[in-house]
Order: sequence, then structure tokens, then C-alpha cells
Amino acid sequence: MAVLHINEKEKKGHINAEIYGHFSEHLGRCIYEGLYVGENSDIPNVNGMRTDVVEALKEMQIPVLRWPGGCFADEYHWKDGIGPKDKRKKMINTHWGGVVEDNSFGTHEYFELCRQLGCKTYVNGNVGSGTVQEMSEWVEYCTFDGVSPMADLRKANGHEKPWKIDYFGVGNENWGCGGNMTPEYYGNLYRRYQTYIRQYNNAAPVRKVCCGPNAADYFWTEGVLKTCFAAPHPAQAHGYMDAMSLHYYVVPNDWEHKGSATQFDEAEWYRTLAKAVYMDELITRHGAIMDQYDPEKKIGLYVDEWGCWFDVEPGTNPGFLYQQNTMRDALVAGATLNIFNKHCDRVKMACIAQLVNVLQSVILTEGPKMILTPTYHVFHMYKKHQNAELLHSYIEGNKTVGTDEKDRVPFLSESVSVGEDGTVHVTVSNLSLSEDAPVEISFAQLKPSSVKASVLTGQAHAHNTFDAPEQVKETELSGCAIEGDVIRFTAPACSVISLDIR
Ligand code: AHR
Repeated sequence: MAVLHINEKEKKGHINAEIYGHFSEHLGRCIYEGLYVGENSDIPNVNGMRTDVVEALKEMQIPVLRWPGGCFADEYHWKDGIGPKDKRKKMINTHWGGVVEDNSFGTHEYFELCRQLGCKTYVNGNVGSGTVQEMSEWVEYCTFDGVSPMADLRKANGHEKPWKIDYFGVGNENWGCGGNMTPEYYGNLYRRYQTYIRQYNNAAPVRKVCCGPNAADYFWTEGVLKTCFAAPHPAQAHGYMDAMSLHYYVVPNDWEHKGSATQFDEAEWYRTLAKAVYMDELITRHGAIMDQYDPEKKIGLYVDEWGCWFDVEPGTNPGFLYQQNTMRDALVAGATLNIFNKHCDRVKMACIAQLVNVLQSVILTEGPKMILTPTYHVFHMYKKHQNAELLHSYIEGNKTVGTDEKDRVPFLSESVSVGEDGTVHVTVSNLSLSEDAPVEISFAQLKPSSVKASVLTGQAHAHNTFDAPEQVKETELSGCAIEGDVIRFTAPACSVISLDIR
């Protein structure tokens, strides 16, 4: 029996809702078809945004949406995506499938989508192939509420009042697709570009995000921070940034042969999960470098691209990155979100890649049909952690599981928070493919009076399809009971569980 100890008296930090964030790029069928079908589509929509998808995302409580990329961001020229749609420039999306991008989804459409979703905005600017002026003018266009060339242009395009940019990314993967830069070179460009992201509304500041490392590239983190913290302006003691990003994808094998999304053996199951829980080490080690520059943890680490990256579904465009999503994805999501919660002192945002029809999506669409993936259900089950307070917790008697010594993973993964109304939210994942886990929850003082528990489980390869959309779905967890001062339940092999305790 594993014992999950919870000290409800020991709050460890605030879990920013943005940890449950998402990412959408002009890539494959994410924006077009997945989110935006246009006003004239037969698919029910509001101002071009698919109603079914918007409603599902609202139910999941999407807190923030990053856009327009990704690699696409450093080739995107925002002025191509404003004004009358029939006059917008067409271009080739060179990164993703070489298809025609007609720019019918641009700045106005993005803010309209976020309005419908009720989520915060995270716009990613172009450093790789864009100018300082272009970036500066984009922020002016979106956020200035006065008389200026860009504010006037926005008004002429039909939007009188400014929007709010909550977060602005200064470039994307500038160590790679965003310009193949060195950390020092990018660090200097970051200092320069961010200078011209003006704060037009002090009541609604634009938070600036510096491009951080890929996976274990500690050299990048050190080099960029050293450059940004050198000879600081007195008012810019924090390296001119509010946050630094981190990108990390779980690729079961190697980049040439990533592995199938739906067909894998036991060894690959554990290898995938071992790569997922490696996120803990990445955050710890990048965080340790950040601590040297920012011991008070004022700069957030935004893991603004994460998730599983498999081979594309057979027969689909290799440039579209369309993949299925099984219980393995659910376990990756469950374990990773627990890690983010536990690092909430440094991790202030995370965006899974990507929202619809690309990589580890929460939603897949086919024409007018839509399915919710196992990953969707995990985000839905974890939504109560958003803006809750992390509680101290640990599992006594947790062992490791796995077939290969180097790919062993913790049997159980957990995190615990308390909401404003005093409800304790517990999320537990059982990473074993074959072994059920009896669990006892014990509190420091709390005497539980009620518990509501749900579970997502199935065999490892289980997934939803357009013909069978409810193969994997959240159900009530039976056999979960209060026994005296403790709660007992069994976490089935390959499951994600969520409990609300009063
Ligand atoms: O999410 C797909 C791509 O992965 C993004 O465009 C890029 O930032 C990353 O390499």
C-alpha cells in the first residue's frame, strides 16, 4: 500500500492558471479547419471560429493561448494578416508542408478567438526575419488607445478599442529555426527588441518573454542570462524579462524514427514516460541557473512548448504533424502537469503543443466532426489546480516500474492543491502498465468528510476515433471511500485520477 501524505497546513506556492496553457501555430490543420473555418462555412461557427471546439475548450477552462508559432512566428509578418481578407497576401508556409497560407486568420481573428475562449493572450513576435520596427508596431497596433499611425490603422480595420496582450514572446527557438543564433547574439538582440515593446497601458502591462533553451541546453540558458543581466539599467534589474521559455518534446526513439502514436510495446511505453518525467530534472537544472541571476524567482520559466512528438499518422502530410493520442499521452500529460504544479515557484506558464490536430492535441477534427483526446480529459480533470495553492505532499512506499533499468519511472505521480473554497484537489497517475496501486491518503490534521473521485483509464493503446469517440473518457472512480481519518482507493494500472476532498 502506498501512502500519500498531505500536509494541508503547508502551502508551497501559487499554481498559476497559465500552467494549463496551450499553443496554436499556423501548422497543418491547427488554425485552419481546427479552430477557424471562416464565416461562410457549413460548420457551425461564430465569426469563423468553430463553435464545437470553442465550447469544448471553454469547458476545459483554457487559460492562455500562444500564437502564431513556433517556427512560423519568425517568418510571420503581421501586417500580411490584417485588413480586408481578399486583399491579404498569400504566402507559402515553408516550414510546415509548403501549403498556401492566405492569412485569413490574423491579428483580429486571434483576439476574437481569445475573446470567445475567455483566455489570456500570448503573442509571439518575429526576431528571426522581422525588424524591431515591425515588432514595435505590432504592439502599438494591438494595445495603444490613442492617436497614432498603428492605432489609427487598427481602427480603420474595424477595431476601435485596443486589445490586451498579456504576454509577448520576443522570438521563438532563436537557437534553431528562429535564426540559428548564439546565446550572446540573441541575448543582445533580446535586449534591443524588447526595448521597443512599449507599455501603452500601465494597468495592463505586456509581460515580455525571452527565448529560452531547448531541452538540456544549459549553455543557452547561462549565455542568454549572462548577456541580459550584464550592465543592467537600474530599472531593469531582472534581465529585461518577465520570463524565459523552455521547449521540450517527448520523442520515444530518435528524431528520424520517433515512433508510432498508437503502436508501441511495453519497453517503449516506459521509455516514453521516462522521457516525460525527465521534465523534472530539466526544470530543476535550468531553474538552478536562473536562481543565480534571479534568486527571488521574479522571472518565470515558461515551458511554452511541451508534449509528445510521434511519427505522423500514416497517409497524412508529413509537414502537418498530425498524430493520434492514446492513454500513453494521458499518462505523459498527467505526470508532467504534476511536475509543473510541484515547481510552481518557478514554472509560471506551460503550453502543450498543440491545441488542435497537431502533436499532442486535446482535440482532433475531421470535417464537421470533433473528438476529445485522452489528453483533453486530463486537462479537464486537472483544471481545479488552476489558481489553487500547492500543498506539501509526498508518497511513502512509492517504488519504480519499468522494463529497462535506464527507463524506470515512479510507480505513482501526484500533486495536491487547495482551492479558495477549501477543497483539496489531488491528482494521481499510475504509470504501471500492469499493476494496480492501492493508495491511502493521510492528512496532517484534516478529517475528510466527503470525497469525489474520477478516473481516466483503459488499455495503453486505447484512443478515441471519429467512429468511436468515447473509448476513453472520464468516469467515476468506484471503491474510493473515507475510512476513519484516511481515504482509500485503488489506482488501476495505466490511469489518471482526480479527487476533490472536503
Ligand atoms: O510545435 C512544432 C514546432 O516545434 C514549433 O514550431 C517549434 O517552435 C518547435 O520546434
